[in-house]
Amino acid sequence: MKRKHVVLFSGLIALASLVLVIFNLITSRNYYAEEYRPQFHFSPEENWLNDPNGMVYYDGEYHLFYQHNPGGNEWGPMYWGHAISKDMINWDHKPIALEPDDLGMIFSGSTVVDWNDTSGFFDGGEGLVAIYTQNGEGQKQSIAYSKDKGRSWEKYDGNPVIPVDPEIKDFRDPKVFWHEGTEKWVMSLAAGKKVMFYDSPNLIDWNFMSEFGEGAGAQGGVWECPDLFELPVDGDSDDTKWVLQVDIGDGAIAGGSGAQYFIGDFDGTTFKSIDEPDHINWLDYGADFYAGQSFSDIPDEDGRRIMIAWMSNWLYANRVPTEEWRGSMSVPRSLELKTTDDGSIKLFQHPVEELTALRDKELFRVENQIVDSIEAADLLDGIEADVFELNAEIQLDQPVDFGIKVRMSEEKQDETVIGFSESKNELFVERSQSEELYFSPYFNGRHAVSINDSKVINLKILVDKNSVEVFLQNGEYAITDLIFPRDDSRGLEFYVEDGEVTINSLEIHSIKSTWKYELFNHFYGS
Ligand code: FRU
Repeated sequence: MKRKHVVLFSGLIALASLVLVIFNLITSRNYYAEEYRPQFHFSPEENWLNDPNGMVYYDGEYHLFYQHNPGGNEWGPMYWGHAISKDMINWDHKPIALEPDDLGMIFSGSTVVDWNDTSGFFDGGEGLVAIYTQNGEGQKQSIAYSKDKGRSWEKYDGNPVIPVDPEIKDFRDPKVFWHEGTEKWVMSLAAGKKVMFYDSPNLIDWNFMSEFGEGAGAQGGVWECPDLFELPVDGDSDDTKWVLQVDIGDGAIAGGSGAQYFIGDFDGTTFKSIDEPDHINWLDYGADFYAGQSFSDIPDEDGRRIMIAWMSNWLYANRVPTEEWRGSMSVPRSLELKTTDDGSIKLFQHPVEELTALRDKELFRVENQIVDSIEAADLLDGIEADVFELNAEIQLDQPVDFGIKVRMSEEKQDETVIGFSESKNELFVERSQSEELYFSPYFNGRHAVSINDSKVINLKILVDKNSVEVFLQNGEYAITDLIFPRDDSRGLEFYVEDGEVTINSLEIHSIKSTWKYELFNHFYGS
C-alpha cells in the first residue's frame, strides 16, 4: 500500500473511532448527576424501583433484582430489574431479568443456588432458581431458572408451583432457603397477616407445613416480604436463634409501612417466637426501611447475613420529588444477634465493611474535647458536606440534650437533625422539607427510639443526596429516613443545649460516588 493510502486509511479509522466515542457519550446519559440522585446507594438507571428481590451470591458475584416498572416512574406493571456487583457497593446495571406473562406481573421473591440440581434444571450441574409471586387473577408462586449466572432466565413451563388460594387475597413474596437440618427447601410466604411455611425436595413440588403470626407483633397492615434465617447469639455458633423478619404495609413505628422481626426457634417445620405475642421488635425506627431481604448463599467462610431494604414508604413512595428515577435501596447491612444490657436478645445492624473503601477526604476530626453550648455552635463552622459518613462517640457528663444538624441551608429552612433528648432518653431524626418541596402531608416528621440508659452515645451517620441512615449504640438501633434538601444545603452544626458534653471522638469523611464506574461499565460492562 502506498504511503498516501496508509495515511488516508489511518485517518478514516481515527475519524470512525471519534464518531463512535461521541455517539456513546451522547447516548450514555448522566443519570448519576440528577438532583437527589443517590451517590452510594443503589438506584435504577431510570424509572420506578421498590423491593429488593432475589438477592443471591454466586460465583463471586452479588445479584440484586428489584421490583421495577420499566415504563414509568410510578408503581405499575412489575418486572424484575437486575444488577450485579462484586462488592455490593459498585453495581453494574443489567437488562431486565423477568417480564410479566399470562400468569401476571412479577412480584417479589427470592433466588437460591440449586447446588445439587434438586430441580433437575441443570443436567446434574448447578444453577440459579428464582421463586416469585405472580400477580394476575389472584396471587400464585412461580419459578424460573438461569444456567448462565443470572444473565438469562427460563420460566418453568409448569408454573405456577403454588396455585392461587381463593381464601387468601394477599399471598406473596416467597423467600426460600435450604434447611441443612432436614435437607429440604423451606419457603416463607406472606399470607394476610401471617407467614405460611412450605417445604419442597426440588423447588417445584411444595407442601404446606405450618404458619406463624396469628395475633403476634405488629398487625397494623398486611404482612409482606418475610425472611427467615439462623444466626449465632453473641457470636457463639453453638448457641443460635432464628430470626423471622416481616414487613407490615401500614401502622409501623414511624407511620405507614415498616419492618419488624421475631426471634425464635425453627425446627424445619414450625417457627416459635420467644417473645410475648404483644411484643414488637422494630428493625428500623425511621420511615424508610421496607421489604428488607438477606442474600442467599453467602459462603460459610464469609458467614455474614447481609440485608438490603427499599428506602421508601408506601405512604408517599409514588410522590417523592424525583423524576428520571424513583426509589433506592439502603446500604447493605450485616446483621448479628446480641444480648443487650436488659438481658433481651436483639438484632444489631452494621453497614458492611466494604463501604469503607468509598471513604474519601477526612473533613473533620476531634478527640477528647469538652464543649459547651457556645463552643458546640462553632465546632463545625465552615465545613460543607452533602455525601458523607460521620462517626461520633459522645459522653454525657451531665444531663443534656445534644445533636448534629446535617444538610443545613444557610437560612436554616432546610435541615435534618440527628439528636439525643435526655429527658425522654431517646435518639431521634427530625427531617424537614422546604416548602417548595411539599409533596406529601406524611413526609415531615420526627422518628425516635427510646434507648437503654447510657452515659455514652455512639452514632454512625451515613448521608447521601436524599437520605440519612443512622446507626445508634453500635448498631443496636437504626433510623433510616429519606430527605430532600436543596442541593446547596450542605452545612453541619453540632449543638449542646444548656450544658456540656465530652466528645470522645467525632470524625467526618466525604464518601466517593459509586457512579464513577458507570462510564467504564457502559463501554466494557460484563
Ligand atoms: C412490598 C410489596 C410486595 C409485593 C410488591 C409489589 O412492597 O407490596 O408485597 O410483592 O411490593 O411490587
